[in-house]
Amino acid sequence: MDDFHYQDGSLCCEEVRAADIARSVSTPCYVYSAATLRGHFTRLREAFASLNPLICYSVKCCSNLAILRLLTGLGAGMDVVSGGEIFRALQAGGDPKKFVYAGVGKSDAEIRFALDQEIGLFNVESEMEFENLARIARDRGVRTRAALRINPDVDPKTHRYTTTGKRESKFGVDLERAMAFFRSFGHDPFVALRGIHLHIGSPVYSTAPYLESVLKALALIDDLAAQGFEIDTLDLGGGFGADYESDQSPLAAEYARAIVPVLQDRVARGLCIILEPGRSIAANAGILLTRVEYVKRSGDRNFAICDAGMHTLLRPSHYGAFHFVWPVECDASLVPSRRARELILPGLQRTEVVGPLCETGDFLAEDRMLPPLVRGDLLAVFTAGAYGMAMASRYNSHPLPVEVLVDGAAFRVIRSRETYEDLIQHERV
Ligand code: LLP
Repeated sequence: MDDFHYQDGSLCCEEVRAADIARSVSTPCYVYSAATLRGHFTRLREAFASLNPLICYSVKCCSNLAILRLLTGLGAGMDVVSGGEIFRALQAGGDPKKFVYAGVGKSDAEIRFALDQEIGLFNVESEMEFENLARIARDRGVRTRAALRINPDVDPKTHRYTTTGKRESKFGVDLERAMAFFRSFGHDPFVALRGIHLHIGSPVYSTAPYLESVLKALALIDDLAAQGFEIDTLDLGGGFGADYESDQSPLAAEYARAIVPVLQDRVARGLCIILEPGRSIAANAGILLTRVEYVKRSGDRNFAICDAGMHTLLRPSHYGAFHFVWPVECDASLVPSRRARELILPGLQRTEVVGPLCETGDFLAEDRMLPPLVRGDLLAVFTAGAYGMAMASRYNSHPLPVEVLVDGAAFRVIRSRETYEDLIQHERV
């Protein structure tokens, strides 16, 4: 799962005590484990080795340069969705040939930038976008490659905000329109349309929706071949799960067991596979450290008011997402044996873990059984490495938090804490 564990009642990331990190850089603070990042990437690569896929890390989920650099060093390509993400991935040393670029609203400037960098693949999401891409490529006299993003119309059984592959989704085009799309654009001289891309949603905690959508994509590839459209690339979007609770998600090997058998002979016949996992690499590799500023009672409820909130980690308030929260230092009898919604331990009390913002929806954990908390306690919010810092904001003019990367017994700051000056640096009176 990850490299965060309790030792003598004190939470450690690999060999470093979380409390020492908080003492050194203060809170709120995101802490990432290099070993967990490496472990998740390597396990995915090994599980899918027989397909020899290009694994493109989804930059959107955690885009710090140090993390992109670490994954680039392991051979990862990059799944990007904006000019800014292309820029980041390049700054981190990524090879643009290994970039795949999705997104429903690519601007002309972003398309020009991506063409200039000679990125590997555009994942095109509408007819109008293809026409625009082809026009810009022709004007610049350059050639590029594209995949059509299709909606396999499979229900991934996830939050409606992160369901992407249903027929009525804003992403991609319906399966039924795919053939017409290739008839219109499949012979473009500047944009070689040779791929199929799909993403059904995330996180997806069972393998069945994947299998169903891969089978639909393969049937489409056969239909296209029969009409003379050769598909050489199948790009499977992210969505592999993460452990917000212990053992919640299938392992990489289990996803592979379901998907590899139907793809193996296609790969042998020359089909290239791209995978776009983000969360399953980064989510368990990060925690958020926050300090309890105050405790108070309102009516029957106990509140722990922290220095992190929805501006630091949006997922609980935005998606109602569960993140396990526990004190960084606790009595040995209170060390949790697993991360779960309900723990049976002595002396716990029902607590609302909330942030400092002027919003009732500003919380990290609702109605949670926790050891009694006092002012100054440090809390860890687990599985915060994906869509944590990446979705953080400066709402209520709180500077963005610091990010730290642990590797073995060492840790280093990979993004400094912002200052008040940073808050106003682009503003003019
Ligand atoms: N590929 C495409 C085309 C995507 O749109 C996404 C995520 C991924 C790959 C990566 O999915 P992953 O492996 O990370 O699940 N903010 C939400 C998640 C939004 C996902 C958007 N697309 C959350 O916090 O759950």
